[in-house]
Amino acid sequence: MGLNFYRTDDTSWTARHVLDDAEEGESMHSLRGAFSETVYIYGDANLWARQHISSSEIKVFSLGLGLGYVEILSAAYALAAQSPISGVSFEADAELIHAFQAWLLANSKPGVVPFEIYEDILQRAAQQASVEPVRLRQELASALLSKAWILNAALTPDSSFVEARACHVIAFDAFSRKTTPELWTREFLDRFLSEVPASKCVLSTYACTGDLKRALLHAGFNLQIRPGFAAKRDSTFATRA
Ligand SMILES: C[S@@+](CC[C@H](N)C(=O)[O-])C[C@H]1O[C@@H](n2cnc3c(N)ncnc32)[C@H](O)[C@@H]1O
Repeated sequence: MGLNFYRTDDTSWTARHVLDDAEEGESMHSLRGAFSETVYIYGDANLWARQHISSSEIKVFSLGLGLGYVEILSAAYALAAQSPISGVSFEADAELIHAFQAWLLANSKPGVVPFEIYEDILQRAAQQASVEPVRLRQELASALLSKAWILNAALTPDSSFVEARACHVIAFDAFSRKTTPELWTREFLDRFLSEVPASKCVLSTYACTGDLKRALLHAGFNLQIRPGFAAKRDSTFATRA
């Protein structure tokens, strides 16, 4: 499955999968600003966690990897706080995992994502968290190599969450319910929320579905329904302290 890339309104990049019938899939980010949306939805979750949880133990859960905005920005905040970079990501498209590793570990030629796109994200994230881009890249690469940050294949309703237990920042950034209905059912969300979050944690997502809200309340989260980014309707910011 190939990818088409587009500049969004803040000049950061987004992508769409090219589907079998040559049509395009869902855009990975808001066309009003891929990086700005990431900062609003997932950056704020990182900042909340760093205010409410001991920085040295923060572990991030990211679904899915996409272009790696969440991974790079979360690592930038960890570096700014001089705390370990720790997390687990899931991604259904194996070529996106390969492309991210090829860039970060500099161990093979560019994959489906041009290196300039990752470099652009790196610069933006480093500036956002006031850290050195070269160091950010080195530290995230070390985290990948040491398995402090683990990249996993697709998350399915039957997935084991062994490596993804006790996460403090949950970036629930799967495609929409229309594209990935299996990740938005009440049954799946109940199991996910009973196994993945640490007792103190934050879950943030651009989406705001009834099943998600009910599952979060059932799991003891406080719900904050925030305006969605740009033209999107509501987004969900749920915390458990
Ligand atoms: C909205 S994009 C994520 C954007 C990403 N967070 C970023 O920072 O660029 C959704 C991603 O989820 C992936 N995805 C779809 N279904 C998935 C699944 N079941 N498990 C893991 N990843 C999935 C897609 O391939 C896509 O890369």
